[in-house]
Order: sequence, then C-alpha cells, then structure tokens
Amino acid sequence: MRGTVSFYLFLSFAVALTACGEGGRQPDQLDLQSGWRFQTGDDLAYARADFDDSGWGEIAVDQTWNRQGLPEYAGFAWYRIKVMIPSSLKANAVLADSLVLNLGRIDDFDQVFLNGRLIGENLNNIRQPTEPTTAFKDLNYSFWHLNRRYTLPSNDSTINWDGENMIAVRVYDWGGLGGIYSGDLNIRIPRESDYLTVDIRSGEFESEGDRFKKRIKLGNSSSGYDIDGECEIRVVNNITEEVVFRQKTPLRISPAQEREVSFSIDKPRESTTIHYQFAVDAASDARLLSEGVPYILTPSPGEKPRINGALIYGQRAKRPFLYRIAATGERPLAFAAAGLPAGLELNTESGIITGSVETAGSYEVKLTAANRHGSDQKTLEIVIGDQLALTPPLGWNSWNCWGLSITQEQVYAAARSFIDLGLADHGWTFVNIDDGWEIKGDSEAPQRTPGGEILTNEKFPDMRKLGEQIHALGLKLGIYSSPGDLTCGGYTGSYQHEQQDARTFAEWGVDYLKYDLCSYRNLMTDQNAVEELLPPYQLMQEALSRIDRDIVYSICEYGNGRVWEWGESVGGNLWRTTGDIWDDWDRLYQIGFGQVEAAEYAGPGHWNDPDMLVLGWIGWGPDLHQTLLTPDEQYTHVSLWALLSAPLLLGNDLTRMDDFTLNLITNDEVLAIDQDRLGRQAIPVIRTENIEVWRKELADGSIAFGIFNIGDNRREYNLDLSLLGIEAEVTLRDVWRQQDVGRYRKSFGMTLPAHGVVLMRTVGE
Ligand code: GAL
Repeated sequence: MRGTVSFYLFLSFAVALTACGEGGRQPDQLDLQSGWRFQTGDDLAYARADFDDSGWGEIAVDQTWNRQGLPEYAGFAWYRIKVMIPSSLKANAVLADSLVLNLGRIDDFDQVFLNGRLIGENLNNIRQPTEPTTAFKDLNYSFWHLNRRYTLPSNDSTINWDGENMIAVRVYDWGGLGGIYSGDLNIRIPRESDYLTVDIRSGEFESEGDRFKKRIKLGNSSSGYDIDGECEIRVVNNITEEVVFRQKTPLRISPAQEREVSFSIDKPRESTTIHYQFAVDAASDARLLSEGVPYILTPSPGEKPRINGALIYGQRAKRPFLYRIAATGERPLAFAAAGLPAGLELNTESGIITGSVETAGSYEVKLTAANRHGSDQKTLEIVIGDQLALTPPLGWNSWNCWGLSITQEQVYAAARSFIDLGLADHGWTFVNIDDGWEIKGDSEAPQRTPGGEILTNEKFPDMRKLGEQIHALGLKLGIYSSPGDLTCGGYTGSYQHEQQDARTFAEWGVDYLKYDLCSYRNLMTDQNAVEELLPPYQLMQEALSRIDRDIVYSICEYGNGRVWEWGESVGGNLWRTTGDIWDDWDRLYQIGFGQVEAAEYAGPGHWNDPDMLVLGWIGWGPDLHQTLLTPDEQYTHVSLWALLSAPLLLGNDLTRMDDFTLNLITNDEVLAIDQDRLGRQAIPVIRTENIEVWRKELADGSIAFGIFNIGDNRREYNLDLSLLGIEAEVTLRDVWRQQDVGRYRKSFGMTLPAHGVVLMRTVGE
C-alpha cells in the first residue's frame, strides 16, 4: 500500500527520538500522534485490516474534525492507522504482560478495533469476541472529555508482534465538536508505575474549622507486582512561593490492594497549589500531579439586610409579572415596596412581586428589607415597555451537569437550591431545562399529540406543575428547543410547529427559551449564510410575540454568520457567540478572551453569550466530577464573564455545593459588574503575551477592570493606570475581597498566580 514504507520510517524515527530523549534508555512506547487516515460515514468493513483506505484523507488528532474542514459534521466517522508493533517493546520493558493503547480524548463515543477485532468501547476493554453494534452511541451522556486507554494481554493472538497492525476507531459524534482531539496517543508496554492508580480528586477538601483535610487514594491494579516507592506532598503558596507544607510517605502496596494517604493543611487565603510526586520504579520517571486548593476571598454577607441585584427590571404590559426582591440578611425579612405600579402586589414575607401592569411606563419603586438587625432601602426601576433582559439573565441550566439525563425532579431540586443556598438572594432567577425533556425523534412513541402539541418524555411527567412550583419560589422557568425537527441530542424539535410550541411553552409557564440550531443545519446550504440563519429565528420570534407571556429569547447557533450583528433584529435577548464550553483552561481561554469582535453589540436587552459557567460539580451526564479548572482559573472565569456582561448560567449540580463554589457565585460586587445597567461589555486595553487587562465602564462613571495572567507561571506585574484612562489619583477596590486597597496614582503593582486574576474597580470620590 502506498505510503507504508515512509510511514514505518517515521515510526522508527519517533522511537529513536524517544530513546535519545530519555538518556539512552530503550523505548517502551510508540507514538500515534500522527499518520491517521479518516473517513466520515459508517461501514464495518472499515474495521478490517485488509480494507483499502488509500483513498481516505489524513487527519490530525490534536484537534476536532470541525477545525479540519468539517465545521458542522456530526455522526459517524472512522480513523485508521497502520503500525508495526516491535516485540522489542516487550524486551525493553520491566513488565511485559500487556499492551496499552492510549487514544486520547474522543468526542463523543468510540469503538476500537485491532486487526478487525473489537477490543474496546467507550472506555471499556472488550476481552471476548463480540459482534459490534451501534448501541454504543445510544447513551444520554457523552464521554467526550475522557482519555481512552485500552489494554490487551500481550499474549493475545490479535496482536501481530513485529508485523503490521491496523487500529481502527469508529467514532460517533452527536453534535457540536467531534472526533479524536487531544491527549497523548501511543502504544506502550506498562511500566510498574502504570499499575499505581492515583485518585487525588475523589477525596474532596473536608473542612475542619480553619483547616482542610484531604485524602488521596492509591492502589495497585496489577495482579502480581508489588509497588514500592514514595509519595511526596508539597503545598506551595503561589504568591509568596513559600512551601507551607511537606509530607513524605513510603508507598508499599501489594497487588490488588488500595490505600489512602491523608494530610491536613491550613485553609489558604490566597492561591495555593498541592504538588504530588509519586516515585515508583527507578527505571521510570516520577509521576507528577497537582491541584489547586480552594481559597475564599469574599466575606459572607452578614446578618443585616442588604438588597442586591440589578435594580432595573423590564417586562411588557398586560403580561404575567414576576420579580423576587433579592436580599441577604437574617431571616425573617419584612419587605416593603412603595410606588408599585397599579396591578402589582408584594408579598411582604417572601419579597415576591406579582400581578400584571396595564400601562407602559417607567416606575420608581422604593424597596425596603428589614429585620431585627436593621433595614436597607434601594430604588428599583420597573420598566414596562417592550424590552426584557435589561441586564444579563442570571440562572442555572441543566446541560453542563445532567446533559440529556435531566429529570423534572432534578430541575425542581435546582430551583429549591436557589432558595436553600440563598442564591436567589443575590439575584439568581432562571431555572432552565436544556435538551432531553422531549420525546426522542426516533422513538416508537408519538412525539406529539394528534393535535400536534409537543409531548414531554417520562422524565418530565408534569411540566405545568414544575412551572407553578418554580414561580411559587419567585423564580423563572426556562426551556430548550430547536428550529430543526431534531434537537442536538436527537429529541423532538419545533420545526413546522413553532407557533404551537410557543403556545405550549406559555401554557407551561415558560419564561425563557433557548433555541438551538442543531438539525436545522441539514436544511441549509451554507451554515454561515445570514439569509439562511435569520428566517428560523425570526419565525420563532414572531411566534413568541403572539403569545401573552414574556419569554426571554436565547439564540443558540454557535456564533455562525456573526450572529451578534443580527441577533437583536430577530428579537434575541442573548445569543451564543461560540461553540460549547468545557472545564479546560485552553477552552476557557479560547472562548472567554475571544469576545472582542462582538463586544460593541451587547447592551440592555441583548447580550453576547459566551456559554455557561463550568464551576462546581459538572459532567454532561449522570456521572459528575468537580470542575477541572483550578481555583485561580475559576476566579478568572467568573471575573471575565462579569466584565463581559455575559449571561451567567450556572451549570453545576446545585444540590452538591461546596463553600468555595458558593462563594464564587454570591459576591454581590462581582455580580453588580455583570449586572451593571449601562450594559457595556468589557474590551481589552492591554494584551501582551501573558497579561491581559480588560476594562468595563460602569453606569456610575467608575471603571471595573480585570488583570489576567494568562501565562503558566506566577507573574509580578505593574499596571500603568493611564492605559485604563485613569490619569488622576484614584481609590481602587479589590472586588473579590470587597475591600478598598488604597489610593493610587500612575500605577498599581500586584502578584498574579498562573491563570489568575485581580478584579478591581475604581471608587467614586
Ligand atoms: C448544543 C448546545 C449545548 C446544549 C446541547 C444540547 O448544541 O450548544 O449548549 O444545549 O446542544 O443537546
């Protein structure tokens, strides 16, 4: 076959390089980073070793296929690579009992074939001969973020030692990005240290007064080798670079045994990292892992009443009105609202204002919240006109945690958490169901009633009741649909039922609709053509305008056709500017710091949406993990989103909330930057290799700014205040700590941890 010889040459070159790189040690690994061939579609013949793929194209495996000429492709595709597996791998290895295949991260599902035999599927090894089916793609959660590692006993006859081997990967992508896109791809013989299983994340930081206790789990997954080594734990303050804790523990773990190592440290007040080093076999390198320690910067709100939130609120005349006064302070609070327009009524215990206003206009309402510690008064401007979302929506969406497995109970549990955790007291309002509430498009069961009304699946037995329960809490209900006949998850969309669905949503009490392009793309010839993107969104806008309920309209089409330039013209209150986010620094950086072009299009009633927050326990399916962003990256995430006037939609399981995450999302001064009524989105004023400074003008004439260290190392930085337009002496306030830090002229110096931020604002005279 053409290309084979040079391909083998390439491999031996890579092997030679590995050997030199490790000081002459013989290699025990073959890289699979390049040389893959690719074909969309599906045919089991592609698994066969003798299939002729010479007509296939080449593909890189360090990025999705979407960035390699297939921007919108979803569905099946195959990757194939031919490799010679030398038995010298075994000869050079300490342990020669199995062969490991590392295939990196694959979005969403995979089946792996070696020489035509199915050996792995969605992270599981397949040891017995198994007839491949397509059931591996029919799950309602994805494995897109997980590294695939498959093993085979080295005496498995499927392996052709010293001969040609064909690895074929059948991938199924259910939408968004797809394919093999990151991680180390290689074939290797295990090292002793490969049998050391390390889990540093399942043991959460346990709070014990001023200290955190932490446990890590270690295990020996081999059946016949003792693990003998050492584990060193070093905790470093990233600002002072001081080592604040060190512990060395000898590691002796027998086959199939597990053990725990625990330690306890003072709760840090600033950026701190734990470095773990596991040294096992002398022959291989020590394994290094690290994790950030949560550190809380914001003081708790206290017992005295304080009214929070945007204090400007828009709805239309003659529509059901709902506003919950956001106020912190010891309960019970007694609320009052003077100057409410006719038609509205306040519940003085809950602070929930309901009713319906007849006459358009702008109404100044004096709100009071009082308890035994005192009272607070603020003016709320109620604007009854034609605009909703005068400040960016604040809420929760089910996607980043539960994915398609979302249930009605989980939605209600999230709503309850808004109250129980006090989120609603900081202005968090929307409880949004994402994809997965509809009937599957390929289900035998009807998707709609004979009259065409959309049906919910068994996970959502009573949508109307859910709406009522959420409204009773003073919160709002959001839902999800698509202009196509199928949603991205393959559920029923609104195609040709737009008006009917808008009406049904209104009957259920829906206050927010996320309308996701998904399968409508199949009806388009050019997915970036504005003239093709506009009509489906316009159609739903018209449908929404005919119902007697206010529904915030969230456009989701991943930024195609520069949606920010026309989103407002089709009634969009917000529009996604990019593809999906996930909890990875590079992705966060790419999305968050890439929002410059769209900035000028944001404003009251219409916002750029850089996608939801990836804080806390998330996972896109039933199995959740704690966000992989470090605490510094999380401070950056929230600070940047606030500066960007972004809609803030939590994506985590609110019933599993830790103090750090709660603190991140309940700092009223940070939220006030996001919710500022001027609605001016931040833009960068300094962009160097490692430092970015983003500046946002606020309604009261002050300036909020974030200094971000986007580099991988700690940085000392002196900010030239004139670059922010600050010429005179000013008082600067540290927004996370809610403290004035002093008066400054010309410059302000600071130390920033890797990927960390200092969020400031100027304080008026
Ligand atoms: C994607 C969208 C996600 C989520 C998902 C549901 O297209 O970007 O935010 O809604 O569909 O299937």
